[in-house]
Amino acid sequence: MTASQSVVSDGRGRTVNYLRLSVTDRCNLSCLYCRPGSQIPFIPHADILRYEELLDLVALAREMGITKVRLTGGEPFARKSLLVLVEAIRRRFPDTDLRLTTNGTMLAGYAEPLAACGVSAVNISLDSLDRATYARITGSDHLDAVRQAIDACLRASLRVKLNVVALRGINDAEIPAFVRLAEKLPLDVRVIEFMPIGSARSWRPELFVSARDALLLASRQVELIPEAQRHDTAGPARMYRIAGGQGRFGVISPLTDHFCKSCNRIRITADGKLRTCLFAGCEYRLRPLLRNPRLGLPTVRRVIAMALRHKPLGFEVLAAEGDRGERGMSAIGG
Ligand code: 5AD
Repeated sequence: MTASQSVVSDGRGRTVNYLRLSVTDRCNLSCLYCRPGSQIPFIPHADILRYEELLDLVALAREMGITKVRLTGGEPFARKSLLVLVEAIRRRFPDTDLRLTTNGTMLAGYAEPLAACGVSAVNISLDSLDRATYARITGSDHLDAVRQAIDACLRASLRVKLNVVALRGINDAEIPAFVRLAEKLPLDVRVIEFMPIGSARSWRPELFVSARDALLLASRQVELIPEAQRHDTAGPARMYRIAGGQGRFGVISPLTDHFCKSCNRIRITADGKLRTCLFAGCEYRLRPLLRNPRLGLPTVRRVIAMALRHKPLGFEVLAAEGDRGERGMSAIGG
C-alpha cells in the first residue's frame, strides 16, 4: 500500500495528513508572546530527538498517510546542520510537501538550498517592520537580517508567508504597513490572533486584536478580494487577494472563529512528545518507545493511532478553562 492510500482519520472523522515536527526548543529570540524574557529552561540535549529518530518519525508519518511535514522550533535554524535534515527528508521522501516555520534571522543564506530541495514554502514569523518595535517584541535587533532573508527567498522563488501575531497597542498600527508590503511583494501576510498558550503570563485581553479588526484595518488600505477556501490544503488562514497587488493578505482566527472541526494536524515536540491539539496539555511520550529496541516504531505507530482516536476539539478544551499544560509555544513548535 502506498502512503497516500492509507489516510488516517481521527476519532471524529477528521483526516490527519499534516505533521508539525519541532526540531529544537531553542530560539535566539524571546518574543513577548512566546518565551518572554526567556526564563523558560531549555530541554536537555540528551532528550532532544536525533536526526535519525526524526527521520524514522517522518517515515512512520508517511506510512500512516501524512503527506505534509513542517519543521518548526523553537527556531529550527538554531539546530546544527538543519539543512542536512531537510536534504535527508527530501531524499528519502521525495513527494512530501515539506515546509518550515522560522523567525528568519538565520535564513538568508539557506534560501537557495531550501529552494533546491523543493521546500514548498517558508513561514517567517515577523511581527514588526519597525526596528524599535521589533526589538520590543523579540528582545533582539535582527530586523535587517529577516528583511534580507525575505528578499533572498523571493529571489530563490521560494514561497514566503509572513506570520504576524497582532498585539494591540504594540504592532496593530503596523497592519497597514504589512498590507502595503503584501501589495508590493509576491508573498502572503497572515495576521494571527494572539492565543493564550504557553504565554499564560503575557496574554491579556487588552492585547488582543480580533481577525475581524485586522481585516477592517487592512481593507481601509486596499481592496481585498476573498480567495475561495480550499479546505483540503488551505489550512486555517482566510486569504484575500489585494486588488492590483502582488501578494495576499489574510487572517488566522484561532479564538474568534476556530477551525478545530477541520484540524488535520498532529505535533511532535523536540523531545519526542506527541500532541494532538495545541490547546490540550495531553502529551504522549514517544521518545522512550522509539529508544527501546523491543518497542520501536511499531509501538509508536500504535500509540499515535490510539492518540488520534482521542484527538479533542481545541475550542471545547479552551471553553473548559484550558487544560493547556505547562509547555510553551517554543517547545511545542507553534
Ligand atoms: N499566539 C498566536 N500565535 C503565536 N505564535 C507563537 N505564539 C503564539 C501565540 N501565543 C506564532 C508564531 C509563529 C507561529 C507558528 O505561531 O509567531 O509564526
